[in-house]
Amino acid sequence: MVNSTYGDLAKYYDLIYSWKNYKNESKMIKQVILKYKKSDGNSFLDVACGTGKHLENMRSKFSCTGIDLNEEMLNIARKKFPDIRFIKGNMINFEINERYDIITCLFSSIGYVKTYKNLRITLENFSKHLKTGGVVLIEPWFTKAAYKVGAPHLTVYQDKNTKIARVSVSKAKGGVSIMEMHYLIAERDKEVKHFVSVEELGMFETQKTLKIMKDSGFKARFLKIKSFDRRKGLFVGVKVG
Ligand SMILES: C[S@@+](CC[C@H](N)C(=O)[O-])C[C@H]1O[C@@H](n2cnc3c(N)ncnc32)[C@H](O)[C@@H]1O
Repeated sequence: MVNSTYGDLAKYYDLIYSWKNYKNESKMIKQVILKYKKSDGNSFLDVACGTGKHLENMRSKFSCTGIDLNEEMLNIARKKFPDIRFIKGNMINFEINERYDIITCLFSSIGYVKTYKNLRITLENFSKHLKTGGVVLIEPWFTKAAYKVGAPHLTVYQDKNTKIARVSVSKAKGGVSIMEMHYLIAERDKEVKHFVSVEELGMFETQKTLKIMKDSGFKARFLKIKSFDRRKGLFVGVKVG
């Protein structure tokens, strides 16, 4: 058994999330951008971009950049989309000498900042990297009320040559959800691997998040939109001048 991070799992990420409809989500994201963005440009920064699966659907319409903490995830993204700029950085304190029209932080990645203190610093950082009238879209992790402590989970992912089983029991400590994901990975002609990936994500309340967005210079709202998990929805902020 090996203690893992996204690094070890990067090569399996696209298979694990092959059920996720990035195309439809991206369509919805484009509609939200069109509705709320007030700035004129089309520069797009996806924070915690992973293997670039949302940017894949954005690159024909926007000038795209992706940023992520994990080099292995970025390397997969770079290989798939050599036309997109991918940068290594932490969402809490990255510094890019540019202002964007759009910043997204999707698939609950914001939860990785864990604390409200970090959430505030991160949102201020997003604000610093946005043009006036630019728009930020954040897909949150669960709130405390929606997260079910003690629930067991089993998911199976597979293609012809790779079979993956993932099990976990949802735990929490204070405002942080803790998921010890045990992965069993069977690949053709190889020994079975067992990884454990411990995921710790802050459970941020909707009203508190909206308040921090407002403090960070955004006109903020929370949308319950269909193509996202409705328990989680989408925060939208427009940077005020
Ligand atoms: C659930 S994945 C989402 C990836 C991608 N947005 C998607 O929708 O497929 C979470 C991503 O957040 C990244 N991540 C975690 N903490 C981060 C941080 N502090 N700054 C930037 N990226 C981070 C991980 O490396 C991982 O790629």
